[in-house]
Amino acid sequence: MTTALLLAFAALLATPARSQTTAVDRAQVGRQVFFDATLSEPRGVSCASCHNPDLGWAGNNGSVTGVAAGSHRDRLGRRNTPTVSYAAFVPPFAVKAVREDGRWVRKAVGGLFWDGRASSFEEQARGPLFAAAEMNLSGEADLAARLRAAPYADALRAAFGLSADADDATWAAAGIAALGAFQRSPEVSPFSSKYDAVLRREARFTPAEARGRRLFMAEDKGNCAACHVVAERSRDPRRHLFTDFTYDALGLARNPRIPANADPDFFDLGLCGPDRRRPDGLDAAVCGAFRVPTLRNVAKRPFYFHNGLFTDLAQAVRFYVQRDTHPRDWYPRGGGNRVLRFDDLPARHRGNVNVDEAPYDRRPGQAPRLSEAEIADVVAFLRTLDDGYTR
Ligand code: HEC
Ligand code: HEC
Repeated sequence: MTTALLLAFAALLATPARSQTTAVDRAQVGRQVFFDATLSEPRGVSCASCHNPDLGWAGNNGSVTGVAAGSHRDRLGRRNTPTVSYAAFVPPFAVKAVREDGRWVRKAVGGLFWDGRASSFEEQARGPLFAAAEMNLSGEADLAARLRAAPYADALRAAFGLSADADDATWAAAGIAALGAFQRSPEVSPFSSKYDAVLRREARFTPAEARGRRLFMAEDKGNCAACHVVAERSRDPRRHLFTDFTYDALGLARNPRIPANADPDFFDLGLCGPDRRRPDGLDAAVCGAFRVPTLRNVAKRPFYFHNGLFTDLAQAVRFYVQRDTHPRDWYPRGGGNRVLRFDDLPARHRGNVNVDEAPYDRRPGQAPRLSEAEIADVVAFLRTLDDGYTR
């Protein structure tokens, strides 16, 4: 972040939302910034082009490759767009010591983006706004000029108390802070799913959903809740975010539709880059690990996993239980018809893939942890996590 923008943020944050009304004003104007398609070059792409509320606040701006297309349609990114719903609950990035099976291990927790490299919405927003493959603005002056010309300019000025002669950095910081206020608002994280209605004792699961929920939780079946964590005994929806914000390497197959993957030496290693340095205190065992995403609104999302490999939710669940029992169905073949397991990681990091924990603790020939009927039940359960439930 430039010093000017940092100073502008410091000044804005020093004048906190004085009242509830100000916070609401800031979120309201932030909503307009979020949907403003003039904030890209060429125009036509807003935050919502990739974070579309109808697609679970995800989507890739119409790209069918699994990764996002920018305002220049031919510029493709390297990752699938994650949901921004419930992103307000992601804690800042940290390396923590936790006790596991009687020994201390260091784990990465939190941070925005699949690799946790941004610790706040304010830090995060500069990514898409100024990235050539996303909104492609040339810098703060460019952003400020567009905000000054926007129909909501007066509302933005009022919500953040900008003076008549506010400079570019101050305008840019206000626009970015407004985006943060919107993404922290209940519109983006409404807790309005059927699952929440059940927590509030206002609805009941169907038999298939109830079976799916049990399979999701059971340690010897889906074991999904080992990473997509909920506080089972709590009725507070905020303790049911379906993630513990930790990182794991799933060993997904390579997505050949990602242009960057045309280079056989390119690998997306998540915590080890290409977009960040391996965090201090962690060893190379974390290379290939990505943050556990929330599963709220998952059924509405058009693509799954960091490389957008799947478009079908059942297929995403099937991958978990058949990866090790039927590797031939999931990976390409190499020389001598050999199955190239974990082919989206360089050989030296393939040992980082989780093969010890259910559901992926099986070997070829064994029965998968979930049958086809059970996969369908888990999917029925996952559909209860979509916001906007009405009876
Ligand atoms: C061209 C598509 C595109 C546009 C436009 C876009 N994003 Fe994103 N967004 C992405 C992708 C892809 C990622 C994941 C990148 C990564 O992990 O490296 C992402 C990640 C995020 C995250 C992190 C979510 C999480 O759980 O880690 C937030 C928050 C976010 N975007 C907000 C915004 C905002 C605000 C805007 C508008 C200023 C915006 N995005 C515009 C594609 C887009
Ligand atoms: C050991 C931890 C772990 C377990 C167990 C686990 N997951 Fe995941 N899950 C992850 C991680 C990490 C990702 C993101 C991986 C990536 O994209 O590289 C993920 C991603 C997903 C996604 C894609 C979501 C998105 O936004 O793209 C779905 C769907 C999902 N998991 C469902 C499940 C289900 C269903 C189960 C149980 C059968 C399960 N997970 C078990 C860690 C886990």
